Amino acid sequence: MPSPLPPDWSDRLALDRAHVWHPFTQMKVHEADPPMPVIGGEGCDLLLANGERVLDGISSWWTCLHGHGHPRLVSALERQAARLDHVMFAGFTHEPALELVTRLRPKLPGNLTRAFFSDNGSTAVEVALKMAFQAQLQRGEKGRIRFGALRSGYHGDTLGAVGVGELENFMTGLFSPLLLACDRLEVPEDPRCELHPDLTGWPETLASARQGMRAFFDAHGERMAAFIAEPLIQCAGGMRMWPPELLQELRAQCDAHGVYLILDEVATGFGRTGTFLACEQAGVAPDLLCLSKGLTGGTLPLSLTWATEAIYAHFWGEPSSGRAFLHGHSYTGNPTACAVACASLALFDDEPVLANARDIHTAMKEAFTALAAHPGVRQARVLGTIGACRLVDPSTGQAHDPESRFGWRLHRRALDQGLLVRPIGDCMYLMPPLCTPPARIREATETLLKLLSR
Ligand SMILES: Cc1ncc(COP(=O)(O)O)c(C=O)c1O
Repeated sequence: MPSPLPPDWSDRLALDRAHVWHPFTQMKVHEADPPMPVIGGEGCDLLLANGERVLDGISSWWTCLHGHGHPRLVSALERQAARLDHVMFAGFTHEPALELVTRLRPKLPGNLTRAFFSDNGSTAVEVALKMAFQAQLQRGEKGRIRFGALRSGYHGDTLGAVGVGELENFMTGLFSPLLLACDRLEVPEDPRCELHPDLTGWPETLASARQGMRAFFDAHGERMAAFIAEPLIQCAGGMRMWPPELLQELRAQCDAHGVYLILDEVATGFGRTGTFLACEQAGVAPDLLCLSKGLTGGTLPLSLTWATEAIYAHFWGEPSSGRAFLHGHSYTGNPTACAVACASLALFDDEPVLANARDIHTAMKEAFTALAAHPGVRQARVLGTIGACRLVDPSTGQAHDPESRFGWRLHRRALDQGLLVRPIGDCMYLMPPLCTPPARIREATETLLKLLSR
């Protein structure tokens, strides 16, 4: 049984019910199951108002990197907010933004030299799409009015980002009349990430996917301004891990057809896949790179769209040339968020963050090997610090009936047992903060096995 909430929370929850509209939520659900009040965060744990401590097994939507309330991030926030909380970024600059580009630039691949600031993953993607389109126009490629994207991709919830996400799901299908023109390409999942892989026919599957990619670009390459992809793992699409060889092929096809390659590392960046960026594992550098989520270690909203010098050059000119990139947000380049991002990046230099990620990778393999022994678990797989599997009904081997809301129930029961997980459809995954001790992952595995067996 969950611990009861303190009595004062009943009024607060009534207030929530009366006025607050939560994200990604059919609000009727909260009539029976109100949102869980959280009063604190400490390391890899969240502290609930009922006095319980839960492991943040999904890093609060993949944002929290070094743990909640990390003293160095908190003090960077306090210091910067007291000194200069915010200033508009058009016509002004400041030290935290300059320190941030100085710290980040050497960690990026290729010739990504120009950073455009915005506030979240979706706007980082919007910026990349608009930059790609405008750069193509300004280099004389006026017919490039479409985009390319992977099936099962997710790039955020603003209309531009929705337009290059997967269309055929409940979240985006209804907006289809409003969206960008986009052609979609399917890539196979990489069985080599599975803990019990069946590699029969894999070389042929890979060769045919390569061939399919070439045919796709032959058909659509001329009309595309850019192709966008989440490198190596499509997170919201159900933790679909896809092969680095196809990312290399994607790079080659973009080059061959004059299409910019946008890599969306909003979720995969900052060590989640075991390397600082996922694209490093394929040796691929994009023309435009989107970063957010872990950029501030999960403390404040901030994002960056990095562009190559060649793209930047297409925007250069006299004020009267009309070549400027006329995009911005009120909080673009917020100094407090930049200072926290600098503190987060400093931790990568001063502490063994990527070594911890390797320990989490080992623990994740053990965890999903144990989970894979359960009859309700299929296709257990691991990439870096991310472990995932498919949940099925053990009696049929088929997906759970959506009416049973198995994932939601698992989420709520797990909270009562000290663990935050939130399956995406039939995909259950763990992506904890990079400071999580392996023993906590073992505990989480035991909790999940217990819950799956109920
Ligand atoms: C790959 C990817 N891109 C973009 C976004 C959108 O980021 P935000 O929710 O910060 O707008 C997400 C969010 O989950 C994401 O996973």
